[in-house]
Amino acid sequence: MTSYKELGLVNTVELFKKAVKGGFAIPAYNFNNMEQLQAIIQACVETKSPVILQVSAGARKYANQTMLQYMAKGAVEYAKELGCNIPIVLHLDHGDSFELCKNCIETGFSSVMIDGSHLPYDENVALTKKVVEFAHSQKDYVSVEGELGVLAGVEDDVSSEHSHYTQPAEVQDFVKKTGVDSLAISIGTSHGRAKFKPEQCTKTADGILIPPPLRFDILEEIEKKLPGFPIVLHGSSSVPIEYVKMIEQYGGKLSDSVGIPEEQLRKAAKSAVCKINIDSDGRLAMTALIRKVLSEKPDEFDPRKYIGPARDELKKLYAHKNKNVLGSAGQA
Ligand code: G3H
Ligand code: 13P
Ligand code: ZN
Repeated sequence: MTSYKELGLVNTVELFKKAVKGGFAIPAYNFNNMEQLQAIIQACVETKSPVILQVSAGARKYANQTMLQYMAKGAVEYAKELGCNIPIVLHLDHGDSFELCKNCIETGFSSVMIDGSHLPYDENVALTKKVVEFAHSQKDYVSVEGELGVLAGVEDDVSSEHSHYTQPAEVQDFVKKTGVDSLAISIGTSHGRAKFKPEQCTKTADGILIPPPLRFDILEEIEKKLPGFPIVLHGSSSVPIEYVKMIEQYGGKLSDSVGIPEEQLRKAAKSAVCKINIDSDGRLAMTALIRKVLSEKPDEFDPRKYIGPARDELKKLYAHKNKNVLGSAGQA
């Protein structure tokens, strides 16, 4: 048993209070490897932003739980070495069972998501409540995120063809019965780099897809039902066109890419939305730079020479998000 406090981590409770009050959102960046983690920490220290390091079940398998524990501790020490002791959360993304959440809690996670959103309502309540009871009864309180409503999109461990918006009529009952610390909702975001079908979008003259707007009306209704309660947005990558173009210029093929426009995320971050999940944008930035370097320098075979520039680009991307999209810069 390792408590997150031994690793120098914090849970989300105080961070979310500050974020809701201050009208900004805490970045929740997914990572699987050292370079992604370095880029996140460098960007968050430079912009003085708190951060949620987010690990999916697939990422945990990929990186290995023991490695992850030491990486999280390393991230805390690295931030101090870079000159700012920013608050760092280690969060399980899309936990799909009580056992997985329990295991993460026992191995140093300070926050977990139990995603019962695909289950019938009562089963979602029962599973979420069970995780909350375990997490909150630890010596060091572990925070729990639940989800109501289903996002469309496909990722390794998360997949659903259609989205179902969160029903505002259910949120009070869910929060009351489960005791969750935050609630992920579905208002039109979606996982992955192709968030909408082309027929759901409009097109600019040069063929760029413009997605349907987020359902801010649903968000407002939810805020009325749960005043001041921390709300989470998944599937919030913007899918920057410059990375998509760079990937395609250097041999990739990513048709129908479309994300959530930054202005809409900025608007959401000013509301009760206090955690915004971003994974795909980091994947795109990294892939774009690796493709560029390898294609421009075909004789290069030192991984540092192509992963290094990808890491630098990632850092730039995260710093930009903190400053201009989430508003978390200067809030550490
Ligand atoms: O929402 C899901 C995240 O993007 C994690 O994706 O399961 O492929 O690691 P993954
Ligand atoms: P994106 O695929 O939009 O980056 O969403 C990530 C996410 O929701 C992780 O839980
Ligand atoms: Zn997600």
